[in-house]
Amino acid sequence: MKPIPYGKQHITEEDINSVVEVLKSDFLTQGPKIEEFEKAFAEYIGSKYAVAVANGTAALHLCILSLDVKPGDKVITSPITFAASANCVRYAGGDVVFADIDPETYLLDINKVEELLKASPKGTYKGIIPVDFAGRAIDLEAFRKLADEYDCWIIEDACHAPGGYFIDTKGQKQFCGNGSFAELAIFSFHPVKHIACGEGGMITTNNKKLYKKLQLLRTHGINKDPDLLIENHGGWYYEMQELGFNYRLTDIQAALGISQLKQAEARLKRRREIAANYTNAFIDKSFIKGLSGSLEGHGYHLYVIEVEDRKNLYNHLRKNKIFTQVHYIPVHLMPYYKKFGWKKDDFPNAENYYNRCLSLPMYPTLSNEEQEFVIETINKFYE
Ligand SMILES: Cc1ncc(COP(=O)(O)O)c(C=O)c1O
Repeated sequence: MKPIPYGKQHITEEDINSVVEVLKSDFLTQGPKIEEFEKAFAEYIGSKYAVAVANGTAALHLCILSLDVKPGDKVITSPITFAASANCVRYAGGDVVFADIDPETYLLDINKVEELLKASPKGTYKGIIPVDFAGRAIDLEAFRKLADEYDCWIIEDACHAPGGYFIDTKGQKQFCGNGSFAELAIFSFHPVKHIACGEGGMITTNNKKLYKKLQLLRTHGINKDPDLLIENHGGWYYEMQELGFNYRLTDIQAALGISQLKQAEARLKRRREIAANYTNAFIDKSFIKGLSGSLEGHGYHLYVIEVEDRKNLYNHLRKNKIFTQVHYIPVHLMPYYKKFGWKKDDFPNAENYYNRCLSLPMYPTLSNEEQEFVIETINKFYE
């Protein structure tokens, strides 16, 4: 049996050919492939607009800037996420405020967020960054209601969940990042994600003003649109109107993204099959707590189990060349965030989850045979 990682990209001949085509073309960066990728992605997700950027972290940074986060502004997020979901607030000098997770879904607990909002005067918190952790879509309809009550914006960190959805109170599917409830949503195209660009990210929104601002911030704050220039000296003229960045995606990466996107639905279907196999295999095993709650619409970037004796299981699997992972070490316990006063026991659900969680191999090309080997190896460890 070959080594089995927890996640892996799948690059086809078609993907390679699309990249080679760009390499032979006139544009390597910010050419026609960017707009093509943005349009196709927005259509897939169900948002009005999409802005392609260098990576998911750059996407978060630009969202924070477009919402005018200032030093000292307080923004709430989950401790069970990748550090970037919190770091973006710090880039603008804002304060990250963590709230505990729901122990069943592992998502930011709306009740804990409400407790925070209620405990301070309105306006204390500027925004909320809920995360569709592991691919499970967070109920943004409920978060929107709460956010409106307290004048907060929402950035949905949907890096784990392109194609994921939740069912709203009208019985409609609400796809992650579709902009129905959040001002902005972000995605990552890191190789272990659903769509691989090497590095890459996308921001989706239904808000035209934010869309225009994001486009400007992505390229140094430079505007070339003749209708929007303050002066105009001629055909060459442009103006730097905001302090922006070079957060562009290249056409090479966008071509790969377009090609990968064509396979996204089929691959999501395979992820869901793999998840169902794990769920069935572990349903009656007392040593494993599998996923609970409604799993409809889960995007399964990760398949997480909770177990006793996690460290020894992790090492046992490694010995058998099965490379699982832990997602995530709670962000509030990172040395950087501890400097702000966050400490152990601040978030019992997140910390208890961290002590027990393990992400099993989950990627579309994982074969049934490989998955059976993973399940057997786990069962043998406990039996
Ligand atoms: C939840 C979450 N947010 C943000 C990011 C950042 O994305 P990137 O690695 O593309 O910068 C990641 C990537 O790992 C992520 O998992």
